[in-house]
Formats: sequence, C-alpha cells, structure tokens
Amino acid sequence: MRTIAFTNQKGGVGKTTSTINVGAGLAKLGKKVLLIDLDPQANLTYSLRLHSQRLEKTIYQALKGQAKVEDVVIHHKGFDYIASSLELSGAELELANEPARESLLRDFLKQLNKKDYDYVLIDCPPNLGLLTLNAFTAVEDVFIVLQSEYLALHGLSKLLDLIKVVQQRLNSNLEVGGIICTLYDSRKNLNKEVVGHIKDYFGKKVFNTIIRDNVALAEAPSHHKTIFEYDGSSSGAKDYLALAKEIKNGH
Ligand SMILES: Nc1ncnc2c1ncn2[C@@H]1O[C@H](COP(=O)(O)OP(=O)(O)OP(=O)(O)O)[C@@H](O)[C@H]1O
Ligand SMILES: [Mg+2]
Repeated sequence: MRTIAFTNQKGGVGKTTSTINVGAGLAKLGKKVLLIDLDPQANLTYSLRLHSQRLEKTIYQALKGQAKVEDVVIHHKGFDYIASSLELSGAELELANEPARESLLRDFLKQLNKKDYDYVLIDCPPNLGLLTLNAFTAVEDVFIVLQSEYLALHGLSKLLDLIKVVQQRLNSNLEVGGIICTLYDSRKNLNKEVVGHIKDYFGKKVFNTIIRDNVALAEAPSHHKTIFEYDGSSSGAKDYLALAKEIKNGH
C-alpha cells in the first residue's frame, strides 16, 4: 500500500483534479485505490457526487474517532473514496488541543487492511495547517502539484520547510515523491520556461508527463465524473493515464 498526499498551499493549481484522475487512472490500470478528501471545501467529494446526497459520516468524524473505515468508505465506479464536508473547517480549531493532534489521520489509516488498497491518495487543502500536517504525518510520499505559470515556485520554500520538520519530528519515512506540472499551454512560451525552471529545481522528481490545459478536465466535475468517464479521448484523459502509468511503474 503506497500512501501519497497531493499538496500545494497555493489554491487552484490542480490538486483535486490530479488526485481524482490519477486515482481513476490507477484504477483503470487494475490497481485498488482509495481517495481521501482532506479539504473542507470538499471539491473532490462534490466532483464525484451530488451535493444533495447527504452524508452522515465523513473524514471529519473519522479524524475525531467517531467513525470507522467501513462507516466512511464510499464505492465509486472502479475505486473507493472518503468524503469531506464543510464541518471539517472547524476541525482545525476543535482538534487544536487534542493530544497527538497531528497524527489523527495516521491513526485512522492504521485500521486499513494493507491488502485492500494498492494506493491511498489524499487531496490536501490549500494551506499548511493542521489538516495538511496530518496528511504529511500519515503518508510516505508527497506529490507537489504546480501550475505551469509565473510564480509557480514562489512560496514553495515554506512547504519544503514543513516537509523537513515533519521528516525530522513526526514521520521519518516522508519523501517528496514527485512533482506534477499542470495546466500547461504549449502556445505560451512562459509555460515552457516555467516547466524548465521546475525541472532545474527538482530534477528527476518531475514527472515526464505534463498535464495540459484541457477544458474537459474543468467540465468533468460538474457531471460528477472522472475524466475517463466524461471524455476518454480528451488530452486530459491521455495525460492522466500516462501519469498513472509512470506512478505504477515506480516513479
Ligand atoms: N489541466 C487542466 N485544464 C483545465 N482546467 C483544469 C485543469 N486542472 C484543473 N483545472 C480546473 O482548474 C480549477 C482548479 O483545479 P483544482 O480544483 O483541481 O485545483 P486545487 O489545487 O485542488 O484547488 P484548491 O486549492 O482550491 O483545492 C478547477 O476548476 C479545475 O476544474
Ligand atoms: Mg482542491
């Protein structure tokens, strides 16, 4: 079982889109996948289901020790996921005084039977607060998602510092396992330049597959579909399948 957090404190860079579609891609390749929505915005959740479908228990109750794995796992076509809800936005404050408050997710994931999943992918919120800290404490790999735009690397030192602190104090297994470049527009010279800078900085950690800007990727969530269900012939579907293959092959 490989556990991976998709992260960047910057908003709107493609974390949620990547978590869902890498997960769906790995599932297409025959892997058993669990996605976890760790963002109070619950974008991953609502990209897969209708708002009106009320959920009794989500990752919020799971972190508070009020729900077991089987209470919160939802089966989607080909993979499983654990939903989030707006309630989770209160967790940051509520849990601030809990002992071991940074390892609540790790403790919850200990309940998982390692044979049930090949990959557990966690969608982080756009900040470096307690929820992201819980993700970093629980996983082996961080995948940093970067938009191929000006300032893509700006502010990244804060994220890398947090990873270092977690490695030293909470989770010595943690590694930056991969860098995903998204929202790439080959018509823009600047995009090429930025990807060049990202490769100079992170070297081989950068995935060969660059996710192109593709309108189908933006449309699929409103249909509550993965890119493979929504438009299997789109460049988005091709890119995320190629990325999933790189991950499956051990990147
Ligand atoms: N490759 C792409 N091509 C076109 N649109 C995309 C692509 N990737 C993501 N989008 C769209 O860009 C927006 C931001 O993407 P997404 O929600 O995945 O980012 P995020 O990093 O999870 O955001 P947040 O920080 O708010 O959680 C969404 O509307 C999404 O549909
Ligand atoms: Mg998101």
